[in-house]
Amino acid sequence: MSEKHPTRLTIRRPDDWHLHLRDGAMLQAVLPETARHFARAIIMPNLVPPVVTAKQASAYRDRIMAALPDGAGFTPLMTLYLTEDTNPADVAHAHTSGIATAVKLYPAGATTNSASGVKNFDKVRPVLETMADIGMPLCVHGEVTNSDIDIFDREAVFIDKVLKPLRKKVPDLRVVMEHVTTEDAVDYVRDNHKNLAATITTHHLIINRNHILAGGIKPHYYCLPVAKREAHRVALVQAAISGDKRFFLGTDSAPHTDPAKLQTCGCAGIFTAPNTLSCLAEVFEAAGKLKKLEAFTSLNGPDFYRLPANEDTITLEKGDPVTYPAQIETADGPVTVFDPGFDLHWRVVD
Ligand code: NCD
Ligand code: ZN
Repeated sequence: MSEKHPTRLTIRRPDDWHLHLRDGAMLQAVLPETARHFARAIIMPNLVPPVVTAKQASAYRDRIMAALPDGAGFTPLMTLYLTEDTNPADVAHAHTSGIATAVKLYPAGATTNSASGVKNFDKVRPVLETMADIGMPLCVHGEVTNSDIDIFDREAVFIDKVLKPLRKKVPDLRVVMEHVTTEDAVDYVRDNHKNLAATITTHHLIINRNHILAGGIKPHYYCLPVAKREAHRVALVQAAISGDKRFFLGTDSAPHTDPAKLQTCGCAGIFTAPNTLSCLAEVFEAAGKLKKLEAFTSLNGPDFYRLPANEDTITLEKGDPVTYPAQIETADGPVTVFDPGFDLHWRVVD
């Protein structure tokens, strides 16, 4: 093995700090794809109906555990879906009893299954203050939803109009900006050293908006927040490979069946769980920063969430192009796997 061009890489086992597992037949089909390589994941609560209470989170966790393949050592870290009716005492109970790791804030109407999200941020202030007191992180879908704001500007406007005022009102609240897609978000996180971090998805490190729209519309590249222009993708790669503790992996792997994606009004979400680690190794290698992959996938996330990094490791090996299925079959229908648009050479061997 050459020092300059390694063909083998052993890193601490990764975690996924933003994941959609769904429920029922879909859960059964997609869970093994994550559990194969990841030790833990922050589980998004945007089911129908959403996971709002400690009791619902506990029941959902039980369904995930029941769907795990035999012998899989995977721990789901549950989240509560914040609504204007969320009870601060229930949130505190969920956290202190270990049922929920974080709370998820969806502005109402921002994305898939977000109708019960927050419209008036003053209404959730008591919950946010309780969370600040107990150190429970808030995971934020950072997009405004006003129809007069251009969809490509919604993240940048959210930072100015919602996030900055909110963090000023509750400065001790620990916030994760989820799936950041802009240089504006990267700069905002870099400039704010306290109580702030961001997750970056696999696909936003690889695609820009041309992938969705140039040469024919590609529904399988459509997700929210929508991919932005190339300069933003480059800023995300720079943040991911920097080793900066405030940036870590949240795949936002979000399976929808092909019929749900390929229709007049197709669903937002990209399914990256099966090939995420191969994609990431390729991105980090292309940037000459394979050595920083471990910080991004396995160290920075636990650090922010105040959890120990995983003790065991995985090994990736470089070789002939990796083959992976174009789709996985589920009882609800086929789900297309993310196509990075280039060959992948790194496979998890151990
Ligand atoms: C997610 C989904 O399908 O649940 N979709 C997406 O495009 N990322 C919701 C979300 O995280 O915004
Ligand atoms: Zn998501």
